[in-house]
Amino acid sequence: MRTHLSFEFSHRDEFPDEGEDFRTPHVLVERFLEEYTDPGDRVIDIFAGFGTTLSVAEDLDRVPYGIEYEPERADWIREQISHSEHVRNGDVLDLESSWFPSVDCCVTSPPFMERGDDRNPFRNYAGESTYDAYLDDIETAFERLDSVLSPGGSVIIDVSNMKYQDRVTTLAWDMADRVSSVFHFDGEVVVTWTHEDPDEADGPAFGYGYDHSYCLVFTEPDA
Ligand SMILES: C[S@@+](CC[C@H](N)C(=O)[O-])C[C@H]1O[C@@H](n2cnc3c(N)ncnc32)[C@H](O)[C@@H]1O
Repeated sequence: MRTHLSFEFSHRDEFPDEGEDFRTPHVLVERFLEEYTDPGDRVIDIFAGFGTTLSVAEDLDRVPYGIEYEPERADWIREQISHSEHVRNGDVLDLESSWFPSVDCCVTSPPFMERGDDRNPFRNYAGESTYDAYLDDIETAFERLDSVLSPGGSVIIDVSNMKYQDRVTTLAWDMADRVSSVFHFDGEVVVTWTHEDPDEADGPAFGYGYDHSYCLVFTEPDA
């Protein structure tokens, strides 16, 4: 795969919630599933959100699985896919191998944290945390994923650095470093985002202070 890709930043459907739309655009998930999986493969998202990975996986004849912390989001995903019994409402930090059959690929986007924040992303920003504790939780989450990922399986993490008022949190790079202690890091793909509306072409197409993000690609090392 090329090490940089460009997509239009758009979603297939209206955001089914309030606040900022944090979903991964489906075109990104499609591109990576086509590259790293085959029809019939099992695909998981351990931070399933509103289920973009699961819906796209099903559209491409892959078998979707997912974990989502928020019960309403898990219910919403169940209504969108035919494998509704494959969606688990729970905490990825509790993931056990008995929860799912072994999976071939994970395409996911964790909840983000800015270095200066003190809210806990793994509790949907309720409760307290620190950036270092958050990175510990990221590492644990992917260790838990390792308990269900097949040898040679792929992990793709959609993540961005974050810039607010000229303060940069190198989230993508810190995540690459931490997850590298669990899986083999194959490298990053830089994703640039363009506007669907040409009248808005001068503004940032994507949030977090950047108009690009990264897909970090890992392989389960027991291949
Ligand atoms: C960036 S969003 C994922 C968006 C998803 N890719 C989509 O397109 O809808 C991260 C998700 O992780 C979930 N989450 C947060 N903490 C979690 C935890 N401890 N276990 C499982 N999911 C968690 C959040 O509720 C949120 O829906």
